[in-house]
Parts: sequence; C-alpha cells; structure tokens
Amino acid sequence: MSSDPFMRTYAPRRQSYSQAAARAGVGTRPASTATPPSDLLAPYMVTEEPYYRPVADEVDLYEAAYSVRMPMMLKGPTGCGKTRFVEYMAWRLGKPLITVACNEDMTASDLVGRFLLDASGTRWQDGPLAVAARHGAICYLDEVVEARQDTTVVIHPLTDARRVLPLEKKGELIEAHPDFQIVISYNPGYQSLMKDLKQSTKQRFGALDFNYPEHDIEAEIVAHESGVDIETAKNLVHIGERARNLKGHGLDEGLSTRMLIYAGSLIAKGVPPLAACRVALVRPITDDPDMRDALDSAVTTYF
Ligand SMILES: Nc1ncnc2c1ncn2[C@@H]1O[C@H](COP(=O)(O)OP(=O)(O)O)[C@@H](O)[C@H]1O
Ligand SMILES: [Mg+2]
Repeated sequence: MSSDPFMRTYAPRRQSYSQAAARAGVGTRPASTATPPSDLLAPYMVTEEPYYRPVADEVDLYEAAYSVRMPMMLKGPTGCGKTRFVEYMAWRLGKPLITVACNEDMTASDLVGRFLLDASGTRWQDGPLAVAARHGAICYLDEVVEARQDTTVVIHPLTDARRVLPLEKKGELIEAHPDFQIVISYNPGYQSLMKDLKQSTKQRFGALDFNYPEHDIEAEIVAHESGVDIETAKNLVHIGERARNLKGHGLDEGLSTRMLIYAGSLIAKGVPPLAACRVALVRPITDDPDMRDALDSAVTTYF
C-alpha cells in the first residue's frame, strides 16, 4: 500500500535463483522471446530473473491467461508476493513491464497522457497506459482501488474485445498492441463502500488469489530474501502466524511476508532477534499497548 512505511527503501536481494528454481521445478523462459517489441520499451524489460517461489499453480494459470491476453486481477493482502509475481511473470514471458503505483491523486491523464508545453509549442506525451497499449507491454496498476473510480473506467475499453484506448484530448484511438496485457492488484481487506472496484470493472478481469504462503514455503522465502538461516526463518514465520490470528481481534491486517523479511534482514545484519522483531514487526503494525504486549510475548516465545 502507499502507506507502507518500508516500501520505498527496501531493495530485494537479487541473486541466483537456480537452486530454488530447481527445487520448485520451475522452468526457464525461452530466450528468443525476450526482446522488447520496441526500443522505447527496452528500459522496461526485466533482464534478471526475479526470485519467485511458486505457491500453487499460479504460474501456469497466468501463462494461460496471458496467452489469451486476459486482463488479470491479483487479489490479496499487502506484502504477500503480488508485485514480485508480476515481475517474475514478465521476465518469464520475456515481455516489458510498466508498473504504475496508484494513488488517490491520480487522474485519468496520469494514465493515458497529456499535452505538454515546451519551447516549440504543445506536444503530446503518452502516459504509461498508452505507452503499454501502443508498444506492447504488460501494464501493472498496483493497488488500483487507491485510484478514483473515474480513473479506473479509462481501462474499460482496453479490457473488452475492442482492446482500444481512446485518447480523447488528442482525438486518437489506440488499438492495443498484440503483446499488451493489463494487470491490476487489489487488497480485498481494504475495501470499503467508498473504495471498492465497481462490478463493471471487476467483471472484466480474471483473478488469482494470493495469500501468505504455507509455513515451510514462507520460511524458505524469508530465508532466501533476508539471508537468515532456515531455523530463524521458521521462527519468524511462527510469529507471523500468531499475529495473523489476531487479525480482526485488534489488528487490522496480518504481519506480511515482507515484514518477516525485514525482521530477518536485521537479524542477518547482527541485530538481536528481539530488537529486530520489535522494530520490523511489532511497532509498525500497532500503536495499541496491549496489542504490542501480546505481540512481544509471541516474539519471546520463539527467540
Ligand atoms: N512467493 C514468493 N516468492 C518470492 N518472494 C516472495 C514471495 N512472496 C513474497 N515474497 C517476498 O515478499 C516481498 C513482498 O512481496 P510483494 O510482491 O512486494 O507484495 P505485494 O505486492 O503483494 O504487496 C517481496 O519483495 C519478496 O521478497
Ligand atoms: Mg505490491
């Protein structure tokens, strides 16, 4: 979410994925597909394989969805792997990925484009959605409910059989490139009457459910991403599971995989586990003193 305090500063470790891939039985992409449809999209190519640990059949399902260019919605709580999954799929399919972090100030022009004034007069500049549709990229609208509803309707003509994007101000109709696909992410936990997708938007997408992975898989992810040993990672996951049981009983949202990775990263840097868990897990998620006590005692059970 845009309110996530860590999002801007955390750089995931990018390192060899071959062992994890071999364990998970994940194939590699055919190299010949990994060329951008146009030079303009070269910066959006995912050149290094992102570490992604498949949880169920989401990789196959997404590949099938992409093969028919079905618009996709990734549903699930924050920090459970949605963004990483899209990066991985873009790499695997060899397609450029344009990511837009949606926020409430975003307007339709921010997505489709606008006229700019420069020395020689006015000049049209495509927005990210128009670039993706025109040149053939996967366009990922992250946390799309954050955007105002009038913004989300601009994606409608791209998500039905027409696959077009009208640039009304410019008087142009972009016919989407054959490689273009739209993907949105959506956290059902944050939905409210004011902030939910319209049915007319929802029904244009196929959906994949994401959640915190099962214990051993989550521990594997935490160990890989943070650099802690697997036993420490398992303890962190136990704490995460305890905290998730408090969701709805004083906690609005469970501890995410992302937070467990932060705690692990601090431990891997030599921070004592209790302090690491307070900083990365307990303090960010609640200000309630009783809830902090309950979480602290979950931490001391495992460290
Ligand atoms: N299945 C997974 N495989 C690899 N890493 C994962 C997985 N799930 C979560 N992660 C890790 O958790 C972090 C947060 O995931 P992210 O994709 O940013 O969450 P979301 O987009 O759902 O909020 C990622 O940076 C990655 O390190
Ligand atoms: Mg995300």
